[in-house]
Amino acid sequence: MIRVAAVGDLHVGPDSAGALREQLSGIHEKADVLLIAGDLTKGGEPEEAEALARELEGLLVRVVAVLGNHDHHADRPAEIAGLLREAGVAVLEGDAVRIDTPGGSLGVAGVKGFGGGFSGASGAEFGEPEMKAFIRHTKERSEALESALASLETDVRIALLHYAPVRETLLGEPPEIFPFLGSYLLAEAVDRSGADLVIHGHAHRGTEHGVTPGGVNVRNVAQTVIRQAYAIYGFDAGGRREPATAAHGSRDGRGPREGRGSRDAARSAPVSER
Ligand SMILES: [Fe+2]
Ligand SMILES: [Fe+2]
Repeated sequence: MIRVAAVGDLHVGPDSAGALREQLSGIHEKADVLLIAGDLTKGGEPEEAEALARELEGLLVRVVAVLGNHDHHADRPAEIAGLLREAGVAVLEGDAVRIDTPGGSLGVAGVKGFGGGFSGASGAEFGEPEMKAFIRHTKERSEALESALASLETDVRIALLHYAPVRETLLGEPPEIFPFLGSYLLAEAVDRSGADLVIHGHAHRGTEHGVTPGGVNVRNVAQTVIRQAYAIYGFDAGGRREPATAAHGSRDGRGPREGRGSRDAARSAPVSER
């Protein structure tokens, strides 16, 4: 069994000292790896990343993360990623990492992703340069995700995102802002390359469970959604590496086994901005 802990939207600031460290204590007894689905910081300031690095110091599991829109806000994403990498975090953006666990090999492909909307209600690469740049960024990030996933030859493959690949995990958010919360292009990339699970955050008021059109389970792990320090998803590796099919969907019960990482009360995170 490969045990994956996941949480998103930590929004750590210098004033968060100690809270996260306490929530994550003992995580190595429950999980092999911790995935963080972006919005690591409140406003993308280096001192916030330093505060997070201190919280993660000495953790006995590998930590893999992608950045979120908040981590870009101060226009210093490379510094944020660098500070976290110095602390041992694998920060992914269009690349992948392999982690060998006692239960099998785990591959994580990560991108921030971006918005644009979903089938029947999505933006197009048309019109003003700003609109074309918006959708082009989503396309590029989706293509990077597809390549990163395809590069993995592990027992289990997970796509780690900040933005959502499906509408289902946004339910609870105002529909008017769905195009700013994710894009169907991310789901298409996952379905083309195949994966065992997609993890994302960003939709603080969304829903935990969803599935791509190709049948890959999607989980929104924004901390305000899972209402725990982290969620745990378990996989019986068994050396399988199957393409995404309905067999991975939640409806036939073959999806990841799920549990909760902690009984700690969820720490409140800002909901006015995702
Ligand atoms: Fe976000
Ligand atoms: Fe967030």
